[in-house]
Amino acid sequence: MQFKIGNLVLKNQLVLAPMYRISDLPFRLLCREQGAGLCFSEMINSEALIRNNQSNWRLAETIESDFPLGMQLFGARVESMKRAAELLIEKKRFELLDLNLGCPSHNVLNQGAGAALLKRPERIAEIISSWACLEKPVTAKIRVAPNVLHSIKIAKIIEKAGASALIVHGRTVQQENSGKIDFVAIKRIKKSLGILVIGNGGIKNKQDFELMLEKTKCDAIMIGASAIGNPGVFAEILEKKPVSRKEALAKYLELCDSFGFNFFGSMKQQVLRFLAGRENRELVLKITKAKTLAELKSMLVFK
Ligand SMILES: Cc1cc2nc3c(=O)[nH]c(=O)nc-3n(C[C@H](O)[C@H](O)[C@H](O)COP(=O)(O)O)c2cc1C
Repeated sequence: MQFKIGNLVLKNQLVLAPMYRISDLPFRLLCREQGAGLCFSEMINSEALIRNNQSNWRLAETIESDFPLGMQLFGARVESMKRAAELLIEKKRFELLDLNLGCPSHNVLNQGAGAALLKRPERIAEIISSWACLEKPVTAKIRVAPNVLHSIKIAKIIEKAGASALIVHGRTVQQENSGKIDFVAIKRIKKSLGILVIGNGGIKNKQDFELMLEKTKCDAIMIGASAIGNPGVFAEILEKKPVSRKEALAKYLELCDSFGFNFFGSMKQQVLRFLAGRENRELVLKITKAKTLAELKSMLVFK
């Protein structure tokens, strides 16, 4: 089913989650081929963009067919978040600007960013209002709080500040990325808002997808962990023939090659994820020691 965020028409209700060191350009293209109707970039540090840090700018790399795209920023300072968003808009094509309000990593929390902002509703409002005048639809991604009334309060602030959609990860900060999804909280948040709500958490297959839609009445679904090394999960949910992990890995490496992707360390991590379930210890060890993309490719000639 189609749905709209602002004027942006999305072909279906399947969204690839922002995932650090996972949702890079080649991976997003693979997920799109398998049916993802919208993809988000991994989280990008607003302060580092302003400092013109090239490895952070690489995370914002995109091409025309990488459409529609949400760019996710994290940070705690209103001025920096506004400036980083302006720079991104100036230099890159993308469709949605997303605010990370859910990252539980200590490094991000210590900067007062990610989920730490959930304790500072006025700061959330300031950041979103500063973005709302940039003429790019804004989204925000939260986690549910132990007390749903707090989540509803935050969600309403986000809506009032000008966001066009809210992504709700149905786990608390303490749960990080595993454990039970709070459907009731997502449903209550959805019911309290006029803007679109994208439900997130624990979707592995079509059955989970349908259950989340039914239980929460949310407008679309975001998929994270089950797409890692397995972009075919989108095709499976759409009841199309999925790409195998092996084919997807070969394509991933081709795409990395064609874009001159040189985050070699994280590329190796991605490779190991595609191999999950079929790797043997010897191959994993060899991959860990690989120093070039050519070397990596030569190890992955499957029979
Ligand atoms: C490896 C990994 C990296 C993640 N990085 C981000 C990130 O950069 N930004 C963000 O908002 N959430 C991030 N998340 C959280 C996911 O976007 C998603 O909310 C979470 O995994 C729950 O969805 P799932 O149950 O389908 O995995 C990450 C999760 C994982 C597993």
